[in-house]
Amino acid sequence: MKILMVTAEAVPFAKSGGLADMVSALSIALHKAGHDVRIVMPRYYAIDRAKAKKLEGPLGVPLGNQEIWTAVYETVMPGAEGLPVYFIDHEESFGRDGIYGVPGGSDFPDNPARFSVLCNGAFQLCHKIDWIPEIIHAHDWPTALATVLLKFREESRGFAKTAGVFTIHNMGYQGVYPKSFYPLLGVGWEHFLAAGFEDWNRINFLKAGLSSAQMLTTVSPTYAQEICTFEGGFGMDGILRDRGEDLAGILNGVDIEVWNPEKDTYLPKNYTSRTFKVGKAANKAVLQHTMGLDIRDDVPLISMITRLVDQKGIAEVFAPAYGCLYQICADLGVQFVVLGSGEAWCEAEIRNLEGKLPNFRAMLGYNETLSHLIEAGSDMFLMPSRYEPCGLNQMYSLIYGTLPIVRRTGGLADTVKQYNEETREGTGFMFDFLTPKSVFDTVAWGVYTWRNSRLKFATMQSRAIKARQQFGWDIAAGKYLDVYRKALEKKA
Ligand code: ADP
Ligand code: GLC
Repeated sequence: MKILMVTAEAVPFAKSGGLADMVSALSIALHKAGHDVRIVMPRYYAIDRAKAKKLEGPLGVPLGNQEIWTAVYETVMPGAEGLPVYFIDHEESFGRDGIYGVPGGSDFPDNPARFSVLCNGAFQLCHKIDWIPEIIHAHDWPTALATVLLKFREESRGFAKTAGVFTIHNMGYQGVYPKSFYPLLGVGWEHFLAAGFEDWNRINFLKAGLSSAQMLTTVSPTYAQEICTFEGGFGMDGILRDRGEDLAGILNGVDIEVWNPEKDTYLPKNYTSRTFKVGKAANKAVLQHTMGLDIRDDVPLISMITRLVDQKGIAEVFAPAYGCLYQICADLGVQFVVLGSGEAWCEAEIRNLEGKLPNFRAMLGYNETLSHLIEAGSDMFLMPSRYEPCGLNQMYSLIYGTLPIVRRTGGLADTVKQYNEETREGTGFMFDFLTPKSVFDTVAWGVYTWRNSRLKFATMQSRAIKARQQFGWDIAAGKYLDVYRKALEKKA
């Protein structure tokens, strides 16, 4: 099958979160299964033109009633010979450091125009390289327009047999903008309807994608149910219930080449499900040293790696006078490590707490190497998300024998199994209601188990490490192929 992924981010080229991991890993898995997959994305400043090949001639892209001129660079996905990645190069739109906005700041106000260049450019590119995909697969609001253009404009321009698939990675970001941008998108005002772009007289990109694609997917089965409810739908639950038959929840996989404690090159010591005790102890000592914590094996170490945004439950952990972190560190006598970046108040409070608590250490910023060491060297991993479409770190944690402490929501509910003291089953510690007290109590439960039931804790760790087979991308890729086939049937 010929599949074009249209995306704002993909590892290793540009990443703001798990979407970038998902797009590349899915593309690689489909490519390995013998499909002709290609990726198109913007050329941000961070992407070095010198490492890519420039396609001959410019690419004209319609933008409102003008045509703008862009260049296209092509490279190959590392580790997947024959999987091309095309970068649309347009200085005015993408010649910036951020993907969606100034790093750590607000979103770029001209995002509708920028992502219109990407989505319109994707179709122009297909014509230029004379390659018409059977599937256009768009991800989140920035590329939702691709499925809209496919439905309303491109059918008569060679894409009559192409079907659109739209994956929701996060309902919380919808791309809502003033309708003054509408003329730049390439679809007529007759489509500015409540059953499409129109949202209280503004443009809503996500909504347009939800109404246009032949098939919709999201990144876990539980999240697929949650977004059809008033609480989880962010205003889109009605449309999603309406399209219930066209919506599939497919759990993301994990890139086992990168996240595997047996061969992870970032780790001071590799380990397996049999050698994890020695292996994790060695990594824990290096982690403690790196973070400036006392090197002790008689104290449990709990960690978080996260974007510091409301979705991740950060208020319940870090908010001044409200969050439970101080209590966790002061009363439970654990060591606690955080790696993350995001909202300014949270970063400031983390610095403040670090000054008060000798057993709490944070690294503010993005750090791939440290993220691997944290996964390997911690005993437990906290993810108290308000909502979590899939979540990758709880899966990394399981694979690394680091027991997750999570809220039972979305992909967290689909991947972690609650510990049962009687039967000794389970792979982690879960709670339902997001309050500082339940976060504290569940962390305390994990700490109690670590201190008093070491054997049970170790049994869970070994079971978690072995859960790796469930998270292979080959399983998810097979399910996406089913979705693609259904999308094509609908189009026929
Ligand atoms: P989301 O996409 O909502 O942020 P996910 O759990 O799907 O959540 O993916 C987050 C990804 O980003 C994971 O691969 C995680 O390890 C990584 N990550 C997040 N923050 C950092 C950070 N500060 N340093 C290194 N990696 C990070
Ligand atoms: C989003 C979600 C996250 C998911 C990721 C990849 O960023 O917040 O839960 O894992 O997309 O699909």
